[in-house]
Amino acid sequence: MPTTAALVPAAGRGERLGPGEPKALRLLAGEPLLFHAVRSLLAAVDLVVVAAPAAEVAAVADGLAQYGPRVAVVAGGASRQESVALALRALPPSVEIVLVHDAARPLTPLALIDAVVAAVRAGSPAVVPGLPVADTIKAVDAGEQVVRTLDRSELRAIQTPQGFERSLLDRAYAAAGDEQATDDAGLVERVGGVVLVIPGAEEAFKVTRPFDLTVAESLVAARTGRLA
Ligand code: CTP
Ligand code: MG
Repeated sequence: MPTTAALVPAAGRGERLGPGEPKALRLLAGEPLLFHAVRSLLAAVDLVVVAAPAAEVAAVADGLAQYGPRVAVVAGGASRQESVALALRALPPSVEIVLVHDAARPLTPLALIDAVVAAVRAGSPAVVPGLPVADTIKAVDAGEQVVRTLDRSELRAIQTPQGFERSLLDRAYAAAGDEQATDDAGLVERVGGVVLVIPGAEEAFKVTRPFDLTVAESLVAARTGRLA
């Protein structure tokens, strides 16, 4: 009976990456981004539920069959939040700790995934990886005029995997309805949940634009020794 699981929203189109396959199916080192993410998650949790683009469910399930019965595939929705909600519904009742992890973060270190699970196990009901912000962040108005400069020391750039006690994530998603948040912890915050930030990892960056895919390819090449 699985007690830990990861939900993987993978149903986005990847518009910022440009024309081509849905982003989760774009290749990195010859394999879809999604497969890299799933492989790492399987080393840390009992069960992985992928929310795939609705038109690609069968193809994604075929491709992931190589990883065995601990991977399930459901159809995703129109927004990331809807995709996660659909995957959450597919979880068996035995699952007590749930991670939510973007398919678009293929190089996330296993150590980070393990650290998120460990922090939830240690008693934090909601845990997110975060990095200090390197750039100065300014708020602007509709005319791109600066309204104010935020205090960088108080800011963290939040990544995934985000980890939750299952009951809390269920409650947050049940309360969310159509209101959108930009991450899962945001929904937990709305129901009064306390969210802990633990140190993130630079390799957990999200592949968003073509530049990110180039960086990811270089990192893999460097790892495999094809690049000094
Ligand atoms: N996602 C999803 N369902 C959606 C939209 C996004 O499951 N309807 C997933 C993406 O597949 C991705 C993750 O949520 O793994 C993070 O979203 P993002 O980086 O924004 O990916 P896309 O929405 O695919 O990219 P874009 O916004 O550039 O179209
Ligand atoms: Mg998107």
